[in-house]
Amino acid sequence: MHFPATRLRRLRSTPAMRSLVRETHLHPGAFLYPLFLCEGEGVRREVSSMPGVFNLSIDEAVKEAEQCAALGIGGLLLFGIPDEKDEQGSGAWAADGIVQRGLRAIKATKASASLVTIADVCLCEYTSHGHCGIVARDGEHYQIENDASIALLAKAAASLAEAGADIVAPSDMMDGRIAAMREALDAAGQQNTPIMSYASKFASAFYGPFREAADSTPQFGDRRTYQMDGANLREAMREIEQDIAEGADMLLMKPAMPYLDVIREARNSFDLPMGAYQVSGEYSMLHAAFQRGWLEPERAMLESLLSIRRAGADFIVTYFAKDAAKVLG
Ligand code: PBG
Repeated sequence: MHFPATRLRRLRSTPAMRSLVRETHLHPGAFLYPLFLCEGEGVRREVSSMPGVFNLSIDEAVKEAEQCAALGIGGLLLFGIPDEKDEQGSGAWAADGIVQRGLRAIKATKASASLVTIADVCLCEYTSHGHCGIVARDGEHYQIENDASIALLAKAAASLAEAGADIVAPSDMMDGRIAAMREALDAAGQQNTPIMSYASKFASAFYGPFREAADSTPQFGDRRTYQMDGANLREAMREIEQDIAEGADMLLMKPAMPYLDVIREARNSFDLPMGAYQVSGEYSMLHAAFQRGWLEPERAMLESLLSIRRAGADFIVTYFAKDAAKVLG
């Protein structure tokens, strides 16, 4: 008897053999790169907790877009950091809002032909209190008003589509926002603008560095009454089902690495195009280890991205998009 008859190592013998039998692939076209747009000119302000990530004025963001296009990156996800904030977050739907102007500038470049330009839709970067919706106060108590918020989010989605967003991506987690946005988009003549819903978004500690980058930390309380409890897988499937019923065209799962099981479950259950967001804390955590020499940067970066694709994500929003695209060539 020959033992062992099955030798799985036969297919691992050389780089060429391994390449032939590789099941999951990374390519720059499946990466989306987040950009944080701020006022001013020539501004490139590094986010202290996110090495290599910057707040960019629109002229600088245009340069980034050109670089991303040259690297073959699939698209951009735009966030705004306005100078002025108010209770309602009116900057989110202002025709001359920071992202609206950024979109027009990026869409005017040749680079934009090969990039899908996605606008994040939320109020938290625009509200003085930092919540993703309208706050109703009653003495000591407050609550985030769902229905008043979705009306404003829908206005923001229409305004961003009119400014040139190829896709709008609501990240607020209010109930009914997808239906409200579809209606507002259609009414604005934007029937062809897809909605990429952050359908399953958990209340996560891993958003910490983003809130520094986007200046969107809630001034009181937290986001647990709208973002999901990290313990709930079945509820995540209900969120997705609901968003699909309301008209979502694509799904975005978030965060990625601490929720790979949720991504896999969603992939097995739904056929919509689905991405995952490797969020700020996932990036910062890896960078902290790189800085200490505790992990090999290139290998750890690629492995983290591969795990997300293997879990079932078609595309990945990642702050590593440029670095990974350079390695992948
Ligand atoms: C806005 C929004 C957040 C992120 C994406 N959109 C922050 C939050 O919900 O607090 C986080 C992205 C990241 O951490 O990289 N609601």
